Amino acid sequence: MSGLEFLDVRVRFGRGAKTVHAVHGVSLEVPAGQVVGLVGESGSGKSTLGRTAVGLAPLHGGSILIDGQPIRSRFRRGEPRPVQMVYQDPYSSLDPRMTVGDSIAEALPPAARRRASSRRAEVSRLLDLVSLEADYQEMLPGRLSGGQLQRIALARALGARPRYVVADEVTSALDVSVQGAVLNLVREVQRDLGFGMLFISHNLAVVRYLSDSIAVMRLGKIVEAGPTAELIANPRSPYTRALLAAAPHRRSGPAAQ
Ligand SMILES: Nc1ncnc2c1ncn2[C@@H]1O[C@H](COP(=O)(O)OP(=O)(O)OP(=O)(O)O)[C@@H](O)[C@H]1O
Ligand SMILES: [Mg+2]
Repeated sequence: MSGLEFLDVRVRFGRGAKTVHAVHGVSLEVPAGQVVGLVGESGSGKSTLGRTAVGLAPLHGGSILIDGQPIRSRFRRGEPRPVQMVYQDPYSSLDPRMTVGDSIAEALPPAARRRASSRRAEVSRLLDLVSLEADYQEMLPGRLSGGQLQRIALARALGARPRYVVADEVTSALDVSVQGAVLNLVREVQRDLGFGMLFISHNLAVVRYLSDSIAVMRLGKIVEAGPTAELIANPRSPYTRALLAAAPHRRSGPAAQ
């Protein structure tokens, strides 16, 4: 089985009467090279589920497998990680004191990082992948726009050559005018490099644009999942229907949020 699999995953926060079952028995598969969209209202547990795949949320039950093998949560420094996450807020995902080039280089595998010339070439290649010129290497994040920073965060995640990417609301914090361009870029890069992706958004219009299949999450559970066209044309759950009714109707192209 080739894919990133969540099997009966459970995450809870707090204790006693105040326990929040943020993820309450979720099983979901991201097949290799495919995009699975995860949609649901605020607080439904989408980010928490995504974070379990990179070891940032504690599992209280269930397991996560890559190609049938349990995923590891601890890695030595420089060791390649099969799953990388890109976050909503591009301003906080980069160290403001480090140049763009150093931030990207830090995430490279040791072999690519060792020599200055190969490091520079690899950083340039990654910047090119996200449609930024090599000059960006020298810049500090404070001088860049949200859209540029999000491209750099993506380049940084891809530098580790992940087999799977968890993209968590990657366009939500961006100005509406650049959201479409960043979404298009994510889609192009995913297709070119062929990694699998869990694409999280509260916006069904955005999710449907780039997902092969969609899972709808509510109160810590998946209420419905299926191939994108089928789920959109024939939603079974009333909750999915409500999300569809709330999403702007556009047949093609990334919708504004
Ligand atoms: N570190 C934490 N400590 C305590 N509670 C948490 C923590 N992280 C998440 N939660 C709770 O878990 C639930 C799910 O949160 P989560 O952030 O996964 O939702 P989400 O679907 O990503 O929402 P949004 O669309 O607003 O990003 C919420 O009730 C949230 O308050
Ligand atoms: Mg979230």
